[in-house]
Amino acid sequence: MKRSSKSALKPAVKAVAPSRAVVPLRERRLNFGDKWDYAPAPEDHKGYPIAPRHELFIDGKFVKPRARRYFDSINPATEEKLTEIALADERDVAAAVAAARKAYDGVWGKMPARERGKYLFRIARIIQERSRELAVLETIDGGKPIKESRDIDLPLVAAHFFYYAGWADKLKYAFPGRTPRSLGVAGQIIPWNFPLLMAAWKIAPALACGNTVVLKPAETTSITALRLAEIFQQADLPPGVVNIVTGAGETGAALVRHPGVAKIAFTGSTEVGKLIAKTLAERSNNAPRLTLELGGKAANIVFEDAPIDQAIEGIISGIYFNQGHVCCAGSRLFVQEGIHKTVLRKLRDRIQTLRVGNPLDKNTDIGAINSSAQLKKIRSLVKSGEEQGAVVEQTSCRLPAKGYWFPPTMLTRVSPSHRVAQEEIFGPVLSVMTFRTPEEAIERANNTPYGLSAGVWTDKGSKIFKVAQKLRAGVIWANCYNKFDPASPFGGYKESGFGREGGLHGLAAYCRLD
Ligand code: NAI
Ligand code: MG
Repeated sequence: MKRSSKSALKPAVKAVAPSRAVVPLRERRLNFGDKWDYAPAPEDHKGYPIAPRHELFIDGKFVKPRARRYFDSINPATEEKLTEIALADERDVAAAVAAARKAYDGVWGKMPARERGKYLFRIARIIQERSRELAVLETIDGGKPIKESRDIDLPLVAAHFFYYAGWADKLKYAFPGRTPRSLGVAGQIIPWNFPLLMAAWKIAPALACGNTVVLKPAETTSITALRLAEIFQQADLPPGVVNIVTGAGETGAALVRHPGVAKIAFTGSTEVGKLIAKTLAERSNNAPRLTLELGGKAANIVFEDAPIDQAIEGIISGIYFNQGHVCCAGSRLFVQEGIHKTVLRKLRDRIQTLRVGNPLDKNTDIGAINSSAQLKKIRSLVKSGEEQGAVVEQTSCRLPAKGYWFPPTMLTRVSPSHRVAQEEIFGPVLSVMTFRTPEEAIERANNTPYGLSAGVWTDKGSKIFKVAQKLRAGVIWANCYNKFDPASPFGGYKESGFGREGGLHGLAAYCRLD
């Protein structure tokens, strides 16, 4: 918990009074006072200046939007304006698709695969070289703690480019007996929770298979995607191979509607995912291919025979990683009854040690909520939990007065019909429930419209296999949580979407197999 005012964001911190129905978690038992607190350790971001204005990246150049309209990108930890971002309209999207088509027909689609691979390796290496800069910008623009952007996001971003670079000239071995062919121009729409990582997940396999790209970043986190554009220039990637159009939903919708796009890949809300599927269904004769990676409401299931302390760490990172802005977050905790009290006691103690505050501070565990809209959504869902009878337990931490913050929260006495047990909160809020038998755990875990991920904690390998086979989730972690690897496919069932990203499955989404 952030107790030292020295390390707090400016202006000075102010205690936020918990609402009356909120039960504050116990103060840490070992309270040594401020002299035992960590010294502030903010990452220096002065060496990475941000231009006052960012243009669109089309045909290898930064160009002004036709309508000369711009919107602000802010730092959600301070509410300071960082820069202005170009707002692309239908005409800009059309120019980007035309540039991508020209590059596909003229250069990229014809290039020997091993040459394409070389570009991807080069991009991966430049990302590694510039990873500190990218991590700092990711943290300033999106609010996530620097230790996550530096140690998790950026290494994974480079790893995705390296992984798919290796496949570029080996596609026929990936699909033995088949002839993989590229599709054309891929339209890719990504969210704000992992801005660079989602860009890498989408761009790397598309390019490896010989497609060209028009990418639409999320409106609150465009800065690092545009830095990636600079890296493409630095790598001498031929103009038009990747184009980046910034803007909000209307820009994304223009890309979806464009008849020149052969493939749409979307990650974001289930609501927008359904809208995209509907738009494309209406274009029955030349509808592009579609993959959707949507929301989740993952069950993290802890059996009595689990290694409890290890499970506590997994539960904590499962829900509080990236402020809970994670589609596969372990947002529903199912604990077997015999260990319920022990787990709750240990969780309360552990949550109380989480440090909330300046995302650029290397000691920070929980950064800022990405936007005021998302904060509003989290608040309203937690309020609904309270109204429906759940008990809201929160740390007694101090939150900075400016910026968007939500303390790590645990909801107990949650019943399966509560909205907080059914709907995606996408914030640092854990809903705790219990179960008696493995059958009951499976049934309750599957009882949501989603099916993206799950976690199983037990000492018995046989139980892991038995339970995992019956869980309707695309990704299941055993005795760990939120572990990612470019070789491992990721994606969901039911309202969590369809198609897989990562691994061989991720390649298949970007080629035609004759
Ligand atoms: P969103 O689905 O509106 O945004 C995701 C991306 O889609 C952004 O780039 C956005 O500009 C674009 N977009 C919005 N409307 C579009 C349209 N009609 N056509 C094409 N593209 C469009 O998500 P939002 O509003 O930022 O977050 C709402 C909720 O969605 C969150 O609270 C969370 O529950 C969920 N979400 C899930 C994500 C995931 O990783 N699966 C990521 C982001 C949000
Ligand atoms: Mg921002």
